[in-house]
Amino acid sequence: MSNPPVDSSGPSPAPWWSDAVVYQIYPRSFADGNGDGMGDLRGVVERLPYLAELGVDAIWLSPFYKSPQADAGYDVADYRQVDPLFGTLEDFDAMLADAHQRGLKVIVDLVPNHTSDEHIWFQEALASPPGSRERDRYMFRPGKDEVPGSGDGNRPPNNWKSIFGGPAWTRITEADGSPGEWYLHLFDTKQPDLNWENPEVQEEMRSVLRFWLDRGVDGFRVDVAHGMVKEAGLPDWEGAAAMVEGTEVHREPMQPGDAPGAHTDLEEPHRAVSPTYPPSPFFDQEGVHDIYRDWHRVLEGYGSDRMMVAEAWVEPAERLARYVRQDEMQQAFNFDFLLAGWDAERMSESIDASLAAAASVGAPCTWVLSNHDTVRHSTRFGLKDPTTFPKGIAATDEQPDAALGLARARAATLISLALPGSAYVYQGEELGLPEHTTLPAEARQDPTFFRTRGAETGRDGCRVPLPWAADQPGYGFAGSHSLTAAPPWLPQPESFGPHAADQQDGVSGSTLELYRAALAFRAGRRLGLGTFAWADSHAPESGVLAFHNGDVLVLANTGFASAPVPEGYSVALSSGLEPAADWSGMREVPVDCTVYLAKN
Ligand code: GLC
Repeated sequence: MSNPPVDSSGPSPAPWWSDAVVYQIYPRSFADGNGDGMGDLRGVVERLPYLAELGVDAIWLSPFYKSPQADAGYDVADYRQVDPLFGTLEDFDAMLADAHQRGLKVIVDLVPNHTSDEHIWFQEALASPPGSRERDRYMFRPGKDEVPGSGDGNRPPNNWKSIFGGPAWTRITEADGSPGEWYLHLFDTKQPDLNWENPEVQEEMRSVLRFWLDRGVDGFRVDVAHGMVKEAGLPDWEGAAAMVEGTEVHREPMQPGDAPGAHTDLEEPHRAVSPTYPPSPFFDQEGVHDIYRDWHRVLEGYGSDRMMVAEAWVEPAERLARYVRQDEMQQAFNFDFLLAGWDAERMSESIDASLAAAASVGAPCTWVLSNHDTVRHSTRFGLKDPTTFPKGIAATDEQPDAALGLARARAATLISLALPGSAYVYQGEELGLPEHTTLPAEARQDPTFFRTRGAETGRDGCRVPLPWAADQPGYGFAGSHSLTAAPPWLPQPESFGPHAADQQDGVSGSTLELYRAALAFRAGRRLGLGTFAWADSHAPESGVLAFHNGDVLVLANTGFASAPVPEGYSVALSSGLEPAADWSGMREVPVDCTVYLAKN
């Protein structure tokens, strides 16, 4: 009997990332598997069943590589080793195998713009003379207007500022004890920028990609993907050295242990212009695209199901789309939507622009509301102006209305999960976790807090270890070790108790059950691959955002009065706090609520 003819005429199935829901694990704060107060890879393994039950498709792990942890692991000392804080390479392999067995893809972070100053290459560079091959792997330069060999180069090569505050250049002492060259660090002093013109740097990063691809990872989240290549000549630049629009602070850094004096003795910070486009001489340079084309080919060597997602704070959306052209990366985080706040008009404009830009290059859109660098959306949306984007919140700042923030966060999440494309969920947002807004200065660890002398509160508040069990010490962060475990590396606020996973599991109306239901609904209706169209009831000027995705009508109410459920539809899912049993009779969508509506 001959085989039936194979029909190859149909469209090939969309790659897995086109509609994937990716859960971001911040390893330090997800789950502590050995009771030392720090999250780790064994902790991840213990909680994989939770993630599978949640209904996500993939996990992305922030860096777990060998690192002195000057920037929570975004300062990599060895790209091929697991830091002992998080476990071993064997633990990684076991985690990867377990995740794969549960049908979860695994994305790891790649940090190519800079290494740690404790990376062997930087150590070699310090020990080698100016002009050496070792120095050329980094961005070393003589001081401004320095007469060669005179040692008078006591001014930095240009005026660039570090994104974390303070100057972007640090002067070294040469091996013979004389004042030496300067090196560039767009971030912390302990994060020297690599020289991406150098073929050895290029080859090393290709090899790092292959190292993790060979182990079986499904993709990479590329850190500061708009960085790496710098404009020739490193010209001065007067713009603000921030990743996104925000406060511009130019001060000498404070060191850990210095009295913080946060917010008290500083002049009023002012709004800085977004530095991303026209590009600064250090971001969004044309040359970065050659790197991604090159990496695209490396991934292709492993088949068609490995991917890269760009962390690129560039605008407008058309600029971002250039990172996901067919021969470059597969996804880019859509921070435009994250920055739109809880505002129907801005969200609506952002959705239009994002979908159009992604479609213009044939890439899937992504939707992100929170991550380890931003104030959690359940807190941002509880501020008086829910479109603001603070860089951390301290006890002396405006405190959010927690209930309002949570209602809006749940509503915003339902919007993002119903849009076509891929969605990112930051650990803890499925618990409705708020930002820790009253962390004491002594507890803070983020280098931005120190380098801006407290003018930027920093990102610690969104990085607090997760609460798993309300009645356990450390809210169960250390699982079965909780009774004897060291306290979590950042203190948790009391407000975490009611948000603990065990308080929400199986409780209809809880945020955890809302996420589970929304993810199941999204998967069942294939919303991630669906077709988007604004609905007749879409009225962003009155705060109503309404769109169709296939047969589903999504209606979000950001306004001041309840909005009617259109005739012919009934509520299939609501972001409100009421139990699911109450949805069937709903004919009005209250303010700060989103509903999924199905045709009767
Ligand atoms: C990215 C990371 C951030 C880190 C920075 C420097 O923005 O998300 O956490 O501090 O890059 O690597």
